Amino acid sequence: MCGIVGFTGVQQAAPVLLDGLTKLEYRGYDSAGLAVRNGSSLAEVVKATGKLRNLAEKIDGGAALKGTCGIGHTRWATHGEPTQTNAHPHVSGNATGSASGPVESDVVGVHNGIIENYEELKAKLLSHGYTFYSSTDTEVAIKLVDYYYKKYKIGPIDAINRMMVRVRGSYALALMFRDYPGEIYAARKDSPMIIGIADGETFLASDVPAVLRYTRDIYYIDNLQSVRLVPGEAHFFDLNGDEVPMVSTHISWDAEAAEKGGYEHFMIKEIHEQPRAVKDTLASLIKDGGIDLSGAGLTDEILAGISEIRIAACGSAWHAGMAGQYVIENLAEIPVRAELASEFRYKKMLIDKDALVILISQSGETADTLAALRAAKARGIRTLAIVNVVGSTIAREADNVLYTLAGPEIAVATTKAYSAQLAAVYALATKLAFVRGKIAASDYKYYIEELQAIPDKISHILDDKERIQWFASKYANAHDVFFIGRGLDYAVSLEGSLKMKEISYIHSEAYAAGELKHGTISLIENGILVIGVLTQGELLEKTVSNMAECKARGAYLMGITSNGNYNVEDSVNFTIYVPRADENFIASLAVVPLQLLGYYLSVARGLDVDRPRNLAKSVTVE
Ligand code: F6R
Repeated sequence: MCGIVGFTGVQQAAPVLLDGLTKLEYRGYDSAGLAVRNGSSLAEVVKATGKLRNLAEKIDGGAALKGTCGIGHTRWATHGEPTQTNAHPHVSGNATGSASGPVESDVVGVHNGIIENYEELKAKLLSHGYTFYSSTDTEVAIKLVDYYYKKYKIGPIDAINRMMVRVRGSYALALMFRDYPGEIYAARKDSPMIIGIADGETFLASDVPAVLRYTRDIYYIDNLQSVRLVPGEAHFFDLNGDEVPMVSTHISWDAEAAEKGGYEHFMIKEIHEQPRAVKDTLASLIKDGGIDLSGAGLTDEILAGISEIRIAACGSAWHAGMAGQYVIENLAEIPVRAELASEFRYKKMLIDKDALVILISQSGETADTLAALRAAKARGIRTLAIVNVVGSTIAREADNVLYTLAGPEIAVATTKAYSAQLAAVYALATKLAFVRGKIAASDYKYYIEELQAIPDKISHILDDKERIQWFASKYANAHDVFFIGRGLDYAVSLEGSLKMKEISYIHSEAYAAGELKHGTISLIENGILVIGVLTQGELLEKTVSNMAECKARGAYLMGITSNGNYNVEDSVNFTIYVPRADENFIASLAVVPLQLLGYYLSVARGLDVDRPRNLAKSVTVE
């Protein structure tokens, strides 16, 4: 989604803003812009479509835009096409908005999110003499602030607060007011924004990596709060306009953690960080030979009293939830349903009062997952967030939080955060099973040892990645790929298919192997690649039979299995082996070759691996 940066301080703003936007590039965008002002001069706006380098070229890397206070934006189009006119910053005046240069307007701003009632607000503003040059909802929000600012002759914070009461939707806004040189005003609802202060300068950003080179002490702006930023200071206000205390959170990872560290892409770096991500996550949950969830506030008593579980999440996090559904039911014998958060949030939610709703999210900001959390809380159901980003909205609003320790994930396609989510879910399943008397102490010990063995086994798979690279080069021109599996293998297939399609743009689908015959098999023709995930002993022969049916219709078969399993090699054309592991946890191994396959296919096709088209890292709109 869009990225916002702001800076007010001593040094020149434009290079700082450009650097911050570069750190937010992973969020996805299709145009960018800056507004910078020098003392009491007018703000100067520059915008460009396409990559950030287009913007940087226009202003000579920042040198051509003078001033020590400014805001910047990368836009991921929602309302209106990705044109220069629709690019941010937007202005309150009746300018054309597409032109670069000094702007006469009283308010200049950037926005992330969606203003749902923007048409109604636009009509109101039109009736008060405002005109509109863009098709964005952002222009409406900025003109609404301007309207209140002038109508009631109030200060920026009061004008912003009136706007917040009037608009519906989600937003993070950064504004500069002509009458307040050297100051930036920010506000947010359901869209993240953070502040960093260092050496007499103040930084604003949508996400932590943009400010990490200056400070690791971060101030999160809360929902419906507004902030006044001046050099070296920030002042937080509630909706009544009363100043509220600011609370800092220390970020433990450093700036290098969000750099490529010698790898060609963030994605391959993050694939290689999986052993550590899983190890750190497990180490935070396994203490003195047992699983300790007290850090997440989950006592044995709470765990013993849970009657059913719903898992709500989106995309890969939902796939981790799907795996969790099988593992928790298998080990702890509690009914579990993994649901898409975007569906779950609108359902009647017929759930027992002693249920647990688990939200899984890397960013902790995904709009649908956040809405699912709020819907569950509104019904008085206990919520547990499994989240990677410390201090994110989902983490702050859930009753219980279990942090995954994957570190910053920059590539749009998730890998290490997904693996860390699996690890967290396995630990929860094992603990639930033990507390509820479903497994004996000896089994508990065995499962913990199996969990602790996962990181080394992932490393082992990574050591042998060249075979997958070779296979990817052979299939770089594929058009359709099918992933099939049963049980946990189906959950892995879902993730393997998403990894492939999102970064290689090859059409792929995942099917529960038994479903293939109910329609999809009509798509199988000569040369189509069918990938079977074959790790579940009692089910894999059935999947192999389904693969044979595809082979009989011309498909080329690839199988992922573990050593010693049924003679898969005799039935498929190409076999990938992963180390043996307890079948409940083997998804953590089976997924790795599929991540590598997606990655190498994307590289072989010459695509932008870390920033696939149309995608955003954190989806903060519905
Ligand atoms: C796919 C991917 C997405 C996310 C989804 C949820 O590689 O990364 O499908 O898993 O957008 O995001 P979070 O986990 O931040 O809630």
